[in-house]
Amino acid sequence: MNITVIGTGYVGLVSGVCFAEFGFDVTCVDNNLAKVESLKKGEVPIYEPGLDKLMKKNMVAGRLGFSSSTKDSVKDADIIFIAVGTPSKEDGSANLDYVYLAVAELAGSVNPNTVLVIKSTVPVGTTKSVKKFLQDRGVEIDVAFNPEFLKEGAAIDDFMHPDRVILGVESKKAKKVLSQVYRPLYVFNVPIVFTNLETAELSKYSSNAFLAMKVTFINEIANLCEVCGADVNDVALAMGLDKRIGDKFLLAGPGYGGSCFPKDTSALADFAKDFGVNMNLVEETISSNDKRRAKMVKKILSACDGEVKGKDISVLGVTFKANTDDMRDSPSIEIIQALQEAGANIKVYDPSFSQQAKRIFNNVSWEKNPYECCNDADVVLILTDWSEFRALNLKELRKRVKNPLLIDLRNIYSVDEVRASGFSYCSVGRVFCK
Ligand code: UGA
Repeated sequence: MNITVIGTGYVGLVSGVCFAEFGFDVTCVDNNLAKVESLKKGEVPIYEPGLDKLMKKNMVAGRLGFSSSTKDSVKDADIIFIAVGTPSKEDGSANLDYVYLAVAELAGSVNPNTVLVIKSTVPVGTTKSVKKFLQDRGVEIDVAFNPEFLKEGAAIDDFMHPDRVILGVESKKAKKVLSQVYRPLYVFNVPIVFTNLETAELSKYSSNAFLAMKVTFINEIANLCEVCGADVNDVALAMGLDKRIGDKFLLAGPGYGGSCFPKDTSALADFAKDFGVNMNLVEETISSNDKRRAKMVKKILSACDGEVKGKDISVLGVTFKANTDDMRDSPSIEIIQALQEAGANIKVYDPSFSQQAKRIFNNVSWEKNPYECCNDADVVLILTDWSEFRALNLKELRKRVKNPLLIDLRNIYSVDEVRASGFSYCSVGRVFCK
């Protein structure tokens, strides 16, 4: 089976590499020539644990190649996946330009037996519109929609051992070809759900919006905990033990970020309106999450007795979450910039040494390890839950800082542990311990 994947972002590259690992012949296409050249050399353009090894292995095995020509790469494809970005437009709607660009490019050379599968996250109705777009150009092929549920930082495992595979199809042929593509997962008893195009498209948005809502819910509970004396970690534990609720996505923090939740919640609220439906809960989630970053800045200022002017703040972690170098919509951006505006001096250590972050922040000192970062700090501020921050030698850190104040916006420490090491501890949804 020849598989062509158009787009080599997180979803496209991980999917292409993993399909090759299943044993299929895969060509990944991107119109960015420089990116394709570096992929051909085995260089992975994103930070994703394990991806470089798996990619090289499959290139050496001759199952994985890269090309900048859509035309050449789709001619002999049995199945084409479109996995290009669908970023937010100014008004919050999904920008489908890259999807249609890819479809227009393949229209001239695709063979009539190919099944075209959209993997990009697209509003309900898009896959049918793509079919119509092709028909208007005299191209009659089967289309399908197959959402991707991988998380950055755990993408390979999510692809290889998914909770489910959702396949929106409207023909027997698409069902047959997609069954073959995902047959390797039957061995793990992965539920494979065939449904119509609209349902598959909406499942993706509903899943992301629900998870975003869950995170926002626990963040609002955290606000309440701070004033009523409850501990949000324990509340989340108590809730999560109920199997109907589940324990995932109940970690309180600085609000969700990244390239998916913010854009997909906005797009869902937007296209639901086109169907005449108001997504009130989703809109409330977006608004609550938007306010969260300013709330975190207030929290930091208040822990510093209202004043950070001239203070040295050592920030541990700036990426939107751990195990990625991705800075898209990271809460750290607004938080650090607000602290700088208030006159703080910022030092940063982030284990990904994110180049994106270096382009975003001005007047920041970049440190090589967490301990050097905390030398002479007035405040140690944890913004990302990287594993290597979970067991820092707090006694050593205490010796290095000017002022022992630890602000942990990811709740990765226990209150008792931090207090025992001589720090004041300000976290989320728990009482501030001076
Ligand atoms: C998310 C979904 O989890 C994936 O299933 C989906 O495939 C992907 O979007 C996508 O649409 O492509 P991702 O954006 O990589 O994955 O990151 P998540 O792990 O979901 O985290 C999103 C944000 O929520 C992060 O800012 C994270 O720090 C925050 N979060 C997550 C919390 O604050 N608390 C939690 O308990 C969980």
